[in-house]
Amino acid sequence: MPRRDADWPTAAAFLPDDPSDLDRLREAAAGCRGCPLWEPATQTVFGRGGASARLVLVGEQPGDVEDTRGLPFVGPAGRELVAALDEAEVDRSDVYVTNAVKHFKFRAQGKRRIHASPDTLEVHACTPWLTAELAAVQPELVVLLGATAGKALLGPSFRVTADRGKLLEAPGGQQVLATLHPSAVLRADDRQAAHDGLVADLRIAAEVLRG
Ligand code: URA
Ligand code: SF4
Repeated sequence: MPRRDADWPTAAAFLPDDPSDLDRLREAAAGCRGCPLWEPATQTVFGRGGASARLVLVGEQPGDVEDTRGLPFVGPAGRELVAALDEAEVDRSDVYVTNAVKHFKFRAQGKRRIHASPDTLEVHACTPWLTAELAAVQPELVVLLGATAGKALLGPSFRVTADRGKLLEAPGGQQVLATLHPSAVLRADDRQAAHDGLVADLRIAAEVLRG
């Protein structure tokens, strides 16, 4: 069972000496034991994309497919994300994709692994990786996909419904835009409307990148 006292080293204890180098960060994150989530998971799923990306997209945590393949957003949510980015005319070569939490949290149900939401302490433990990725990439805009990413960067009062679709400033001065998580689109009763909402928000990101 995960310990509840948050007496974990957090990711901060595993950051490399030179955190400005993305490759060093990725290598160091592979050995992170900053919270208990590493143990049942297959591997660390670090961000993917170039160090000169102008846009960073932040999800929640890797899912089952991502945990197996070691790459973010390569499962069903990733397909929805790619479709929405293309429809919004965001240039995907400009994008770095990552998650607030780098290990897959799940509960076992027979042979299936069911997604479990990371809690506040786990998100807090993992945030040093995200902060270091943002410092290394220095994007023009960060798109926060869903509540976990939103709370990680904007704090506990963040609410997707109230805060989505607006250009906001994170405490570090970073320009951010929050929107729905692509998995929420896949679960929505009116999937088309949710998809259209995600696309509309991503069009704002595309406009920022066009300057
Ligand atoms: N959901 C996420 O938040 N991130 C992924 O990488 C995959 C699914
Ligand atoms: Fe480290 Fe984050 Fe994995 Fe926890 S979830 S072990 S802090 S990489």
